Amino acid sequence: MSHISVLFVCLGNICRSPTAHAVFQSMVDKQGLSDHILIDSCGTGDWHIGRAPDPRSQHHALMRGYTMNNLRARGVGHSDFDQFDYILAMDSQNLVDLEAMRPNDFNGELGLFLNFCRHPHFTEYSDVPDPYYGGSQGFSLVLDLIEDASLELLRQIKERL
Ligand code: 4NP
Repeated sequence: MSHISVLFVCLGNICRSPTAHAVFQSMVDKQGLSDHILIDSCGTGDWHIGRAPDPRSQHHALMRGYTMNNLRARGVGHSDFDQFDYILAMDSQNLVDLEAMRPNDFNGELGLFLNFCRHPHFTEYSDVPDPYYGGSQGFSLVLDLIEDASLELLRQIKERL
């Protein structure tokens, strides 16, 4: 079996991408694939570097059984394009920022994470709405979208392992 690496990217790396990191890690762990799939997350902005995920994200994740208090925010770097097979943006602006950094020789997959959504309720979404300035429903929707996209991402990666 080979190895595949996945980087989830949002703006602050304290709400959406650490949630994707924790949810996808949990699915990978449950399937016994953690030695084969490496997961990380980061942000395009630098305001929250070194901080734990937003307590509201942690709370909503924990209600579904995901722990993310071990994660710390970091900024995206050029070396990420050397290290990751999939670089998945939480929204279209994150993708614009990543495309601007993309080296010509990057052979991995750079795209929107929600392109992996398959549930009919969620296929209309292309962006994970930023929950930072909103209420608790926003954090719950982040989890719904991320859980759905993670299922298909994992299915596709398993075919490549
Ligand atoms: P995230 O959410 O990109 O999902 O981590 C945000 C967190 C912080 C800010 C914006 C979005 N902020 O402007 O500080």
